[in-house]
Amino acid sequence: MSEIISEITGRRARRGLSEETIDRTVLERIFKAATLSPSCANKQPWRFMVCTADGSIEKAREALLGGNYWATKAPVLVVVMTSDDLDCKSNDNRNYAWFDTGMAVMSLMLQATREGLIAHPMAGFDPAVLREKFDIGDETRIITMIAVAKPGATDHLSEKHLTQENEDQTRRPIGEVFSWENWPGLQ
Ligand SMILES: Cc1cc2nc3c(=O)[nH]c(=O)nc-3n(C[C@H](O)[C@H](O)[C@H](O)COP(=O)(O)O)c2cc1C
Repeated sequence: MSEIISEITGRRARRGLSEETIDRTVLERIFKAATLSPSCANKQPWRFMVCTADGSIEKAREALLGGNYWATKAPVLVVVMTSDDLDCKSNDNRNYAWFDTGMAVMSLMLQATREGLIAHPMAGFDPAVLREKFDIGDETRIITMIAVAKPGATDHLSEKHLTQENEDQTRRPIGEVFSWENWPGLQ
C-alpha cells in the first residue's frame, strides 16, 4: 500500500453536525471497533457511556462548555472514561489506562469516518456536571466527550469555527516530532 489509509486522511474534527438520528447498528459497529483496540495485557480499560437523543442526551449536553455550542446538535454524545486501576502500571509512574483508552477512541473515530460520520472529541466539558447528573464516582476518570453525528449545516457556526471547518489540517513537520537514530531532547 502506497498511500495513507483513507479513514486517517478523511477524519476531521468538524463542527457542522446534523441532528438526524444514527442507526443503532452503525453505532454498535463503531463501538465494536473501539473495543478491538490493543491494550496492555489486554486489560481493556476503556469505558463508554452512550447518550442518545432518545434518552439521556439532555443531561450530557448540560456538561458542554459554551465553546462547544455546536455539539448540542449531535444526536449522540459519548462520555469516555477509565480508572487508573483498570490497566497496567509500572514503578516509574507509567499508567496505561489513559493511553489505551485513547487508542480505543481513535479506533472509534476511524470507524465513524468509514461510516460517513463525524466523531469529534472534546475536552471542553465540565466533569462535575456529568458526575452529578449520572452519579459517576470520583475513582472514575472522565477523559473526553465525543460528539457523533452525520455531517450537517454549518451556517450557525461562529466565524472562527466556520473558517476552521474548511481549513486544511495544520501539523508540526514530521522532522519536529520524529527523530531518527538520536534524541535531540524535547522541542
Ligand atoms: C483530547 C481532545 C480534546 C478536544 N477538545 C475539543 C473541544 O473541546 N472543542 C473543539 O471544538 N474541539 C476539540 N478538539 C478537536 C481538536 O481541536 C482537533 O482535533 C484539532 O484542532 C485538529 O483538527 P482535526 O482533528 O480536524 O485534524 C479536541 C481534540 C482532542 C483530541
